[in-house]
Amino acid sequence: MTIFVTGGAGFIGGNFVHYHLREHPEDRVVCIDKLTYAGNLSTLAPVMDNPHFRFVKLDICDREGVMALFEEEKPDVVINFAAESHVDRSIEDPGIFLQTNIIGTATMMDACRAFGNVRYHQVSTDEVYGDLPLDRPDLFFTETTPIHTSSPYSSSKAGADLLVMAYYRTYGLPVTISRCSNNYGPYHFPEKLIPLMIANCLNNKPLPVYGEGKNVRDWLYVEDHCKAIDLIVRKGTIGEVYNVGGHNEMANIDIVKLIIKELGKDESLITYVTDRKGHDLRYAIDPTKIHNELGWLPETKFADGIKKTIQWYLDNRSWWEEIISGEYQNYYDKMYGNR
Ligand code: NAD
Ligand code: DAU
Repeated sequence: MTIFVTGGAGFIGGNFVHYHLREHPEDRVVCIDKLTYAGNLSTLAPVMDNPHFRFVKLDICDREGVMALFEEEKPDVVINFAAESHVDRSIEDPGIFLQTNIIGTATMMDACRAFGNVRYHQVSTDEVYGDLPLDRPDLFFTETTPIHTSSPYSSSKAGADLLVMAYYRTYGLPVTISRCSNNYGPYHFPEKLIPLMIANCLNNKPLPVYGEGKNVRDWLYVEDHCKAIDLIVRKGTIGEVYNVGGHNEMANIDIVKLIIKELGKDESLITYVTDRKGHDLRYAIDPTKIHNELGWLPETKFADGIKKTIQWYLDNRSWWEEIISGEYQNYYDKMYGNR
């Protein structure tokens, strides 16, 4: 099989490329990535010489370029990870989120239609369900929870999901969608909570916690997400949505304190800053469907996954130090300078 992986120079797509080449060495993986600020070729360096792998620098909104690549490679499956993914950036500047996340999704699906209804998987997010109250731990997102978004990012992802289901119903495109909770692990861009806190801790810089740090996220080790996508692509039911999450809810402040402890630093580094606008309170996935239908269960416990992740950032300082020494500094000053 030839698999197109879009956004493979990013966090989850990159982990998926490594996972796929390891688990299915007979497949050919073609990574399509625009290499935005979030894309890093160094993430793919270990597989660049693999004869079963090809990297193509391409914008998923570039219709002509996408069609030409389909013509050349004739993919069997497309897995669309490519997206603008950071909520805070979407609050500052929504436009590019609509472009990549909605128009890019439509472009990839149009190419799938044009080349014989190629199997298409959309990597979506639990954020399309909005949020849950902090005082109702009995409530979870299921696949039938209404779409109810909060940020320009989640709205653009929800728009893409609606298009995916429309292409299934209208054109019979063979699609699936996965909606996953917060991932963590290697190659996570240091604008996101866990890698940002690890990097700042290691540099003895303040740890900016939004609001009171009570917001809850449901954390899943990235490889467990990769396994879930692989299962859905191979065994999932066409036209279905699958929620992916590990029943591992934690308040932000507890994650930050855990990282501080693991790195032997002091809690005086914690700095409470102005809250995110429209900040979602709690995400919590009910993964019963993917468990019952496909036998998926998360394998990495948070206590182990966070240790592995911290160790990865200690062992791969050059990967993230290169990122934070560049344009990232301007982003950081803009986001946190007067917060
Ligand atoms: P990321 O920001 O780390 O990586 C995104 C990648 O997409 C980058 O390599 C970037 O260069 C590429 N890209 C951006 N625009 C592009 C375009 N127009 N054409 C081609 N490539 C483009 O994102 P991530 O955290 O790895 O998320 C991957 C996907 O998973 C996204 O669709 C996101 O919505 C979804 N998701 C993320 C999480 C999470 O916790 N990070 C959880 C659930 C779902
Ligand atoms: O739930 C899945 C989503 O998880 C994905 O769809 C998104 O692409 C991904 O970025 C992530 O979104 P979040 O907004 O939950 O992740 P982030 O790491 O930005 O923030 C996690 C929590 O930590 C959130 O409540 C905001 C808070 N936070 C974040 C940063 C960057 C802080 O308190 N301080 C910070 O500096």
